[in-house]
Amino acid sequence: MTHDVIVVGSGAAGLTAALALAERLKVLVLAKGSLTGGSTAWAQGGIAAVLDAGDTFEHHIRDTMVAGAGLNRLATVEFVIGEAPRAIDRLIELGVPFNTEGADLHLTREGGHSHRRIVHVNDATGWAVQQALLKAAEANPNITLLPGRACIDLITGRHETRYSGSGRVWGVYALDQATGTVEAHTARATVLATGGAGRCYLFSTAPRGATGDGIAMAWRAGARVSNMEMMQFHPTCLYNLEVKNFLITEAVRGEGGQLKIPYGHPGAGERFMPRFDSRAELAPRDIVARAIDHEIKRLGLDYVHLDISHQPPEFVKSHFPTIYEKLIGLGIDMTRQPIPVVPAQHYTCGGIVVDLTGRTDLPGLYAAGECTESGLHGANRLASNSLLECFVFGEAAAADILGRWAEFEPPPLVRAWDESRVTDSDEEVVIQQNWTEIRRFMWNYVGIVRTTKRLERAQHRIALLSGEVEDYYGQFRVTTDLVELRNLLQCAELIVRSALGRHESRGLHYTLDYPDMLAEARDTVLVP
Ligand code: FAD
Ligand code: SIN
Repeated sequence: MTHDVIVVGSGAAGLTAALALAERLKVLVLAKGSLTGGSTAWAQGGIAAVLDAGDTFEHHIRDTMVAGAGLNRLATVEFVIGEAPRAIDRLIELGVPFNTEGADLHLTREGGHSHRRIVHVNDATGWAVQQALLKAAEANPNITLLPGRACIDLITGRHETRYSGSGRVWGVYALDQATGTVEAHTARATVLATGGAGRCYLFSTAPRGATGDGIAMAWRAGARVSNMEMMQFHPTCLYNLEVKNFLITEAVRGEGGQLKIPYGHPGAGERFMPRFDSRAELAPRDIVARAIDHEIKRLGLDYVHLDISHQPPEFVKSHFPTIYEKLIGLGIDMTRQPIPVVPAQHYTCGGIVVDLTGRTDLPGLYAAGECTESGLHGANRLASNSLLECFVFGEAAAADILGRWAEFEPPPLVRAWDESRVTDSDEEVVIQQNWTEIRRFMWNYVGIVRTTKRLERAQHRIALLSGEVEDYYGQFRVTTDLVELRNLLQCAELIVRSALGRHESRGLHYTLDYPDMLAEARDTVLVP
């Protein structure tokens, strides 16, 4: 099946790229599971942009670089932040119903931001954005949406029936999740917008499908990845034995929420963040998450409290209706009670290396959104800069493809997927077991506070599991679980290798063996 352009992923980055490309080209959008299954639909807080008269691009740039501990690439930061107001305008044109205050957009505040600059749709911004993008894509005759496809690998030169030597990427092999057959989709250009690798960790706010598929596919095809050790932990994920990954948006702290020691422990009720940072609850995420981790370990806690009950009940309910309803269903009234919270993996700052046009190292392959390392986030992403990156880079990749279209050759004939592996595994339990094991040791050994010894332990386990999984992959019919396990393990390997390579503590990478930050900020670039 041949198309002009293939976009893998139907989140903010993928659909933004598809809509821009569809002005002139036929675009196929593939998604694993449902079209709304990525992180985009789950985003709560909002999108950062300089829109307030008292705010400036320079302030947003500085806040982004401070949060990123200087590892950001200034050109990328300037590019994305400069494009932000236009990106918001395009979303408004698509019908995203951002909250307003009089004639202006209502701006909320989050950690690390020196101004109010977050546009939002209550506390469910991502859902509103996802719906608006999807509605536009569904109405566009140049876009074909194909959910239920788990892409397995990129199609490259080695899959051409007669090798041309061009070194280009020609599309993807995709598993039809309903029938179990593997399709070859080819195109002149391919855009990866597959989201992050959060599910490498036992506790994560990210959806089930965040298994780093795009990062692993690009790596296997020969693209560089960078800064994979920079895994972001959100400070405030709900602590609940049944609901394991519900985020309590940073905007709760932005609107006055305070972090406190829970009842029944020494110092109960103490607001502890001022002891760690003068910005208290509004310090960047890495600092707040580490402080909570410190208090949890110091006092042997299961969680800390996030308390916004001092604000008027109507204020709380109107700002956070989704969270309020969710918590009421769990027996917590946030207008009167504190919320039990713990840090959880939240965002993958590293990824496929891209330039300002979304180009990767491989001709014909572009990438946008959370699967990339564009230089925007550096060592720690500033809150609400991620959706923004998706819109700006989705557009940039599309613009580059449209601008260079005459140079893109039609794809050659490629080999069909090797269907000789016809045996269904009777050992599905192995996949589940390995999946759980990876997520557990990544949490314990490659988490908020690291040591060389723990990283080496994780590396040793990854090596053992890799042999087992590759053996399994070579023998049995491919399934979504197997595709994801293979990618999860690949990403875990890249994370640990990157972490071992960084001999300093910077941003999200904090190691007891190298507690100081080096004078020079350097990316950890891995070359296949
Ligand atoms: P996603 O939206 O994750 O989409 C990935 C797409 O790729 C999906 O369609 C998926 O099906 C597809 N895919 C993946 N693998 C395959 C495969 N093998 N084959 C085919 N398709 C595949 N950021 C902000 O800026 N503001 C916020 O308020 C905010 N809140 C957040 C709240 C939560 C709970 C979470 C988890 C994240 C939040 N983030 C926020 C981060 C932000 O939501 C994500 O970084 C962003 O949405 C990523 O968009 P994306 O398009 O790159 O990927
Ligand atoms: C949140 O709402 O706290 C998430 C914002 C983000 O991840 O940028």
